[in-house]
Amino acid sequence: MRDPEEELRELEAGGLRRRLRRIESPQGTRVDLADHGGCLNFSSNDYLGLATDEGLKEAYQKHIGRLGVGSGASRLVCGTMAAHLELEEKIADLKRAGAALTFSSGFAAATGTLPALCGKHDILILDKLCHASLIDGARLSGATMRVFPHNDLDRLESHLQWAARQVAADGRVVVVTESVFSMDGDLAPLAEIVELKDRYGALLLVDEAHAFGVLGPQGRGLAAALGVESRVDLQMGTFSKAAGLSGGYLCGSRAMVDLLINRARSFIYSTSPSPALAATVSDALDLVCGERGETLRADLLARRASFAPDTTSAIVPVIIGENEAALAASADLLAKGFLVPAIRYPTVPKGSARLRVTLSAAHRTDDIIALKSALADLRESR
Ligand SMILES: Cc1ncc(COP(=O)(O)O)c(C=O)c1O
Repeated sequence: MRDPEEELRELEAGGLRRRLRRIESPQGTRVDLADHGGCLNFSSNDYLGLATDEGLKEAYQKHIGRLGVGSGASRLVCGTMAAHLELEEKIADLKRAGAALTFSSGFAAATGTLPALCGKHDILILDKLCHASLIDGARLSGATMRVFPHNDLDRLESHLQWAARQVAADGRVVVVTESVFSMDGDLAPLAEIVELKDRYGALLLVDEAHAFGVLGPQGRGLAAALGVESRVDLQMGTFSKAAGLSGGYLCGSRAMVDLLINRARSFIYSTSPSPALAATVSDALDLVCGERGETLRADLLARRASFAPDTTSAIVPVIIGENEAALAASADLLAKGFLVPAIRYPTVPKGSARLRVTLSAAHRTDDIIALKSALADLRESR
């Protein structure tokens, strides 16, 4: 039998071992690491700084007082509470979709949705850099998978042509991509992808995890920015990043969502999130998509402009290459007081280990300038 210690030694030898790091403070742009002390945090997806927002903290406490802390069961058993339905109405409305279903996480949304909609007679076509949750969902479905090189429209089209020939009359072909890619921060050519999937009669699932709250009118995402929301059949995302809380969503037609209620195993066989959380997420959506959100997005844009003027999102990768070198760069930055994670295989392809800098509206301009200078020193010393 394989010895777990031996497996851990192998991970260590390849520069691939992960360890949890204890944080003693709340999340924020400054965090207190148990093994290090205070540092500036450039590792979080809390793009608008809402994870510790005073108004949301108060709202959460009020909702707990009103609704309690637990939901009791899965939604189909007895855990559907008004707060869950109200949240779903709100996100469906924002996404201009017929309906929405919420999940306990974005990961659960992906791994529930793809197997619910696709099986062995169907075809899933994924961008090579899709998030692990989408890859796992695709694998779980048992559908035939095709992967196209990142953002390569020609290869996507040739997969669509192939799929149109292969799929049975009642089979589904679903293209799966992200709008803002989680480890590269670049954008999918969404308008062109929508044209292609329509031309070949396929469906499209877009994961807006890193776009929601950051891009588009009211922060509604890239599909909204490009005016193609109504043509994206399945709009997925999470409340765990710009919205500052947690939970995943899938927006689509009423029939698609009803099918998920009947088939998505991560939804059916899992206790629903606490109703107080759902109600607080609703409040967070009002905030993200309202005036305060506009102000925070303007702040974030200013931070992006001062850090990397060409950046298209709040994620800025600094590609290093080898795992050990990325780990060393991350350790070097930490010694200078900056928490910037080293991202390695399998999160990113082999040989493309990187520092992943994430910016927040809550960073101060001084923080950004300090990090820029630390990164410049790092480049010089390499
Ligand atoms: C692109 C993408 N999709 C889905 C998820 C999963 O979302 P959650 O953290 O809510 O499980 C993430 C987050 O890590 C992500 O980056």
